[in-house]
Amino acid sequence: MSKIKCIGILTSGGDAPGMNAAIRAVTRAAIANGFAVKGIYRGYEGLIHNEIKEFTTESVSGIICLGGTILKTARSKDFMTEEGRKRAYENMVAAGIDALVVIGGNGSLTGARLFASEYDVPCIGLPGTIDNDLNGTDLTIGYDTSLNTIMECVDKIRDTAYSHERIFFVEVMGRDAGFLAQNSAIAAGAEAAIIPEEQTKVDQLAQFIGRGIRKSKSSSIVIVSESPKCGAMHYAERVRKEYPEYDVRVSILGHLQRGGRPSAGDRILASRLGVGAVNALLDGQRNVMVGLKNDEVVYVPFSSAVKSDKPLKKELIDALKVLSQ
Ligand code: F6P
Repeated sequence: MSKIKCIGILTSGGDAPGMNAAIRAVTRAAIANGFAVKGIYRGYEGLIHNEIKEFTTESVSGIICLGGTILKTARSKDFMTEEGRKRAYENMVAAGIDALVVIGGNGSLTGARLFASEYDVPCIGLPGTIDNDLNGTDLTIGYDTSLNTIMECVDKIRDTAYSHERIFFVEVMGRDAGFLAQNSAIAAGAEAAIIPEEQTKVDQLAQFIGRGIRKSKSSSIVIVSESPKCGAMHYAERVRKEYPEYDVRVSILGHLQRGGRPSAGDRILASRLGVGAVNALLDGQRNVMVGLKNDEVVYVPFSSAVKSDKPLKKELIDALKVLSQ
């Protein structure tokens, strides 16, 4: 039997729809198994500044349908320092928390990994990010909702693109990963996706124009992954210079991609992984991310989960090319 008595939960990094469903699942599964639960506010910042509250079953009532995170979130600079992590540990011990569940993306789970390597604290991660860029899980919490949001936006942009016979470059989030761009392009019937995974391999704009889509269609939508230098603006500028015969517009979707009510898929994923996090602690697991692989709940060591090389299937790239002709 584990010695853990009290589990602390926090959300960290960019918020993602379904984080609340995950908080609810961890809280309820923990209480059902006899653990006390404490909610830590504003991510690691809340550990450092002692923003910790006792959670009951009622604390998480009515939140499964809400976007964002009731615990709030932050990208903590202080937690990146030894001094910050020391204060976090001291506050955790003072609050009687003996295990942590961290819901967040790559940076947040990297933080958990570091913390667990310095202090004897069982840490369990849940993949909470719209980017879907964590290894060892087929899906991350928030990705499905965000995909749906992008798809709905692109459906609307298509109306105006068609009416004016324009090329639209629609920029989507994803940080260094092209999952949102590639799959939203397929879902919205876009003509192309420009993704970081292909950046160094081909000139994706030349490839798109070279496919001659504009001969058969008078309007086109190209979904572009965000990038400091090669985002939608960059490609629109290139078209203006290199292919001046085309009328071009840009739409940057921004943070609306992170908001809104979580989809059923995200609520179910978050609920399963939240229960999985408590089971992981009961199993004596530590320093793993709980993920979903081939519809099975799996434990992935932090070191593998945060590697920034999650493969994007070539089949998706090929499918879009065939379907967009
Ligand atoms: O990691 C989630 C994410 O939305 C990325 O897709 C994006 O690059 C980043 O966060 C934006 O972060 P912020 O809200 O801090 O500007």
